[in-house]
This record gives sequence, C-alpha cells and structure tokens, in this order.
Amino acid sequence: MSAAPQSFSIPSRILHWLMAPLILAMLFIGVGMVATVSDRYALLVSIHKPLGVAILALVAIRLVVRLARRPPPLPVALPPIQRLAARASHMLLYLLMFAMPLIGWGMLSAAGYPIVLGQHVQLPAILPHNAYLYATLRQAHTVCAFLLFAIVLLHIAAALHHRLIRRDGVFDAMTSGEQGR
Ligand code: HEM
Ligand code: HEM
Repeated sequence: MSAAPQSFSIPSRILHWLMAPLILAMLFIGVGMVATVSDRYALLVSIHKPLGVAILALVAIRLVVRLARRPPPLPVALPPIQRLAARASHMLLYLLMFAMPLIGWGMLSAAGYPIVLGQHVQLPAILPHNAYLYATLRQAHTVCAFLLFAIVLLHIAAALHHRLIRRDGVFDAMTSGEQGR
C-alpha cells in the first residue's frame, strides 16, 4: 500500500482556495440583496444566481477530486473530539455547498420564475410551481445560509488554531503542502 499523502492534492487545494472567497462573497451578496430596496437589487441578483450555479458545478468537481485522491491523515496527537469535529464540519460544509445552490434553484422553480443566468442562458425548472414549496425553500435558503456562515467562521477559527497555536501541519496541508504532519 502507498504511503499516506502529506497534503491535499493540488486540484483539491486550488478548488478550496478558489471556492472559499466565492462562497463568502455569495453570503454577503445574499444578505446585501435582501437588505436593499435600491436599484442595486437587480445587479446583486444578476450576480448571485450565476455565481451560485457556478459554485454548484465547482463543488461537484471538488467532490470527485476529493473521492479520487486520499486526503492526508489528521495528526496522531489530535484529541478524538477534535478529530470528530473536523470530520463532521467538513461533511457539513460539503453538504451545504451542494444544498445552498440547489435550494436557490429549487425555490425559484417552485415560485414559477424563469431562472435566467445571463442574456442567453436560462435553466430549466427543477421543481413544480407550488407556493407552499416556494415558501418552505425560501426559509430553508435563509436558515442554511446562516448555518453555513456559522460553520465557516468555526472552520476559519480552527484553521488558525492549527496554524498559530498547534503548528501541526494541518494548515500547510491545504496551503503550501510542504510541511508534513
Ligand atoms: C453557495 C450558494 C449560495 C449562497 C451561499 C446563497 C446565499 C444567500 C443568502 C445569504 C441570501 C439572503 C437570505 C436572507 O437573508 O433571507 C440569499 C437569498 C437568495 N438567493 Fe441565494 N445563495 C446561494 C445560491 C443561490 C442560487 C443558485 C440561487 C438561484 C439560482 C439563489 C437565489 C436566491 C434568491 C432568489 C434569494 C432571495 C432574494 C430575495 O428574497 O429578494 N441563491 N442567498
Ligand atoms: C467558505 C469558505 C470555506 C469552505 C466552504 C471551506 C471548506 C473546507 C472543506 C470542506 C475542507 C475539507 C477538505 C476537503 O475535503 O476539501 C477544508 C479544509 C481546510 N480548510 Fe477550508 N473552507 C473555507 C475557508 C477556509 C479558510 C478561510 C481557511 C483558512 C483560514 C481554511 C482552511 C482550511 C484548512 C487548513 C483545511 C485543512 C483541514 C484538514 O486537513 O483537516 N478554509 N475546508
């Protein structure tokens, strides 16, 4: 059997650092969008929808890459509770990266709106027109967005804890990939 890798594969790292700012931007664009009554609403929506669908495509590629390449093992010295927290939070992040765009697409379908991504691109509806379904998904989009935001904050805090306090190579496994664990 080949030795365990010391870091995440290069495609995994590229996708992680490409998607992190996109997802953070989407959270702020989403909140800005619902908070404004100005002309900027239409502009923000016109960025939010195609960017959200791009994130869906990127996370699908990311999952394939992640399943194809073994991730580095966590440091042996990491307490079991932190191991569990790392695994659970990563799974939840993947789940939400899929759920957010799918709920967004689904809720516009249920509302009966055309899902227009640009001048010539329109996506098909993925759910039937149904006002109750729309209301449920609209609420789910908000709840999941806040859950995603909270987990991302904890995730960043954990990453900085590994980098600045434990200095155990976990951070480097997702950045330079140089330091072993
Ligand atoms: C990673 C993907 C996504 C994230 C993080 C995200 C985040 C958000 C956030 C934070 C809000 C504001 C929620 C609130 O305060 O009530 C929002 C609203 C919304 N999002 Fe998304 N979203 C994503 C994908 C999508 C997609 C793919 C679509 C549609 C194709 C979409 C359509 C909408 C719509 C229509 C609203 C509500 C606008 C309004 O009520 O005026 N979102 N989103
Ligand atoms: C929206 C933002 C982010 C999301 C959705 C996200 C998601 C993820 C996911 C799912 C993993 C597990 C590895 C994988 O299978 O891809 C991961 C690992 C990692 N992330 Fe993030 N991340 C975000 C932002 C950040 C930021 C801002 C930092 C640094 C401050 C960071 C540092 C790390 C590190 C160090 C790892 C490796 C952890 C390990 O080896 O267990 N992430 N991230």
